[in-house]
Amino acid sequence: MEAIVLAGGFGTRLRPLTYRMPKALVPVAGRPMIMHLIDSLPSEVDKVVMAVSYMRDALESHFKENPVDGVEMVFVEEREALGTGGAIKNVEKEISGDFLAFNGDIISSVEPMALYGMLKEKSAKAVISLWKVEYPSHYGVVDLGPDMRINRFVEKPAPGEEPSNLISAGAYALSYDVLDLIPSGRVVSLERKIWPILVEKGMYGLPFEGYWTDAGTPERVLEANAILLRNTGKEAIVDENADVRGEVLPYSSIGNAVVKDGAVVENSIVMDGSTVKSGVKVKDCIIGPKMDVKRDCEGEVIA
Ligand code: GDD
Ligand code: MG
Repeated sequence: MEAIVLAGGFGTRLRPLTYRMPKALVPVAGRPMIMHLIDSLPSEVDKVVMAVSYMRDALESHFKENPVDGVEMVFVEEREALGTGGAIKNVEKEISGDFLAFNGDIISSVEPMALYGMLKEKSAKAVISLWKVEYPSHYGVVDLGPDMRINRFVEKPAPGEEPSNLISAGAYALSYDVLDLIPSGRVVSLERKIWPILVEKGMYGLPFEGYWTDAGTPERVLEANAILLRNTGKEAIVDENADVRGEVLPYSSIGNAVVKDGAVVENSIVMDGSTVKSGVKVKDCIIGPKMDVKRDCEGEVIA
């Protein structure tokens, strides 16, 4: 089975970090976030089509150096970012039947085969995973009927205008002929243009339990990091080559980096080649690669 992974966004909410690396390669719990998604794919998936535009080379080299067992990884050229819908259309020639698709920045316990099963059972055009949140207006929000049919989909509604608390969790099972609905060669938003058409034709939603986050903002990258560490029963992950003399507090991930005497790193990510100087306190921060942190920081992205 084929799966498309959308990983070509600019990662604007993670700048300046994403001027240096694509969002998909930002390490979360010790691995590039995209790897958590790839690892969670069902065994039925034997081909992953990476829809990448921004910083494609970095992603392609990552997978050249770290091939995924039993999965063919395909990269398709997308010169200009075509939006989530345009990116799916752009990889059409790699798809041969009904398929799965994922936003590349989700960390979750979603079961893609349950979406696929529902696609078949309902003879639907699309089944999307749904997650309940307290503040839905940052996401795509659905009005779900009792038969699990989606009556309405609104992308990022104004606060107070959300039809429910159920949001699209960024994992989809799609019928092959959905590709015919997307115009080619131009920017198309799946959420704003294609989902509303599919709502008319038969789009279903499947809520799931467990954990979910969209690691698209600094706060949510750290939340994803904490969720994954807690899931594995760890309070921190420290690279085996790291040199840690200071304190590392939950929930932190330290790459091949240096944490000097008396330094404290709490609920933060410190990437390869960085140094946290003596006595410096780092809290709720994302420290990009090769940074020297010489002063205390809280809630910052330093890259
Ligand atoms: N190839 C390609 N080209 N990929 C893209 C492009 C593009 O032009 N634009 C975005 N992407 C990728 C991003 O890299 C990301 O992995 C995914 O598509 C979703 O884009 P985001 O920018 O992260 O969207 P969002 O988080 O604001 O909203 C989306 O995700 C929410 C759940 O996580 C929407 O799908 C919402 O409906 C949904 O609720
Ligand atoms: Mg996102």
